[in-house]
Amino acid sequence: MKTPQAIQWNQYLVNGELKTWSGDFEQVYSPVGEVDEEGKVDRIHLGKAPLLDTAAGMEALAAAKQAYNNGRGAWPTASSEDRVQAMEKFLEIMISKREEVSEMLMWEIAKNHSTAYKEFDRTVDYIRDTIEEFKAMQRDGSQLASKDGVLSQVRRGPLGVVLCLGPYNYPLNETFCLLIPALMMGNTVIFKPAKYGVLLLTPLVEAFREAFPPGVVNIVFGRGRTLAGPIMATGDIDVLALIGNSNSSNALVAQHPKPNRLRQILGLEAKNPAIVFENANLDLAVKECLNGALSYNGQRCTALKLLFVHRSVADDFVAKFSAAVDALQLDHPLKNSPLTPLPEKNKVAAMEDYVSDALAKGAQQVNAKGGRINDTSFFPSVLYPVDASMRIFHEEQFGPVVPIVVYDDLEEVMSSIAQSDYGQQCSLFSEDHATIAYAVDHMVNQVCRVNINASCQRGPDYLPFTGRKDSAVGTLSVHDALRSFSIRTLVATDVSQKPLIRQVLSSGDSNFMTTDYLL
Ligand code: G3H
Repeated sequence: MKTPQAIQWNQYLVNGELKTWSGDFEQVYSPVGEVDEEGKVDRIHLGKAPLLDTAAGMEALAAAKQAYNNGRGAWPTASSEDRVQAMEKFLEIMISKREEVSEMLMWEIAKNHSTAYKEFDRTVDYIRDTIEEFKAMQRDGSQLASKDGVLSQVRRGPLGVVLCLGPYNYPLNETFCLLIPALMMGNTVIFKPAKYGVLLLTPLVEAFREAFPPGVVNIVFGRGRTLAGPIMATGDIDVLALIGNSNSSNALVAQHPKPNRLRQILGLEAKNPAIVFENANLDLAVKECLNGALSYNGQRCTALKLLFVHRSVADDFVAKFSAAVDALQLDHPLKNSPLTPLPEKNKVAAMEDYVSDALAKGAQQVNAKGGRINDTSFFPSVLYPVDASMRIFHEEQFGPVVPIVVYDDLEEVMSSIAQSDYGQQCSLFSEDHATIAYAVDHMVNQVCRVNINASCQRGPDYLPFTGRKDSAVGTLSVHDALRSFSIRTLVATDVSQKPLIRQVLSSGDSNFMTTDYLL
């Protein structure tokens, strides 16, 4: 098998300059490699990435602040055309890196080959759609209104300096779904990749440098506690954009001395339930639950993480579901199998802990193949019957353990969903319209997306992606993300000022006060 060429990455991007780092480095290993008889994996060495110190993080912050210059910098005051041109330039260079980025995405986080490429392509589409949506927004803002003797022009303006932290499971897509709209709206950004999925971003660093003015995008590599924490503690961050865990976001927000000035845009944990009703099409429910619970080994915030099944169909569902799980292949990501090794350190042990806790409290592992394969691979374990005494009932497993709960009365299900700390999405499985109508009405105010006879997912990206309770702050979608990273701002004057306003408009001197139609 052809292994990738190691990337010895020693740079970071600050103020439009690629700086060389000569301090500490992190060695990066793939979760895949040769396995010895004891199940120990000799992981493939992929290269190294800088572990920058706090001073380097502060340089990035200073550059982002200077480029923003309290909203007076060249980027926040740039014309819409200039911002679109910069983004188009970035996109063009990014597309030329498709193979490098997608291949490293596969090696670093063991996303299978086709989903790695899909993540890249979906991100390219997202950027294209964002540019179009931004143009539409600017066109709306190019009109002046005259009402009650007041002449006004309303647009959306940037918020300031954004600290952007993405997750390891979608290190390209989810990160760029924050970064790109933040930039498009005129903010300046400090971006730090997640702990895993770092090297895949390095082919794009030069693209950011080339496409955007100095200081608009600053990219740092290293630990959150060394970089993100001290940056937040300065109070100079206006927006925390993070997809990940609430422990991290809470700790970061707590360090900001002026939390009221901080906008949070967060995608956090979830425990999305499926409800399989007595009148469900079981084959369809099995297929969707399988995909929903186990695509990318369950490492998706939108994964189905708790399956409630009505007692009358539970035995049937459990038998079909377990057989379907055992028929899945777990293999090298290059082979495109649906299950792959797990990139996070100690993840296999964490999955084993969920299983042993549930088994000790009365559940069984009902599929024959469930459990550890080696120190980076865990074949999905199906646990049944699971109840509220078990950790897996409440906690986000973010991995290949599927808990099944049997229920008699829908009220039990509704009340445990109401008590859950999370509220992102759910899936309902039934062929009966009255069942669906009732369940939809009782679920739409508990979660933010109800999927009917389908698994949960974020896409298509024009749909709003958000959550209640501890699952999210703010809303993302191509359109909503542009709103989230901006604020309404306007100019207003008495109608008697028309001659002056006419002159401002016809001079073309203002990028805000213009009625030009953005083509
Ligand atoms: O990790 C959470 C992602 O937003 C899930 O996105 O539903 O497209 O896999 P997805």
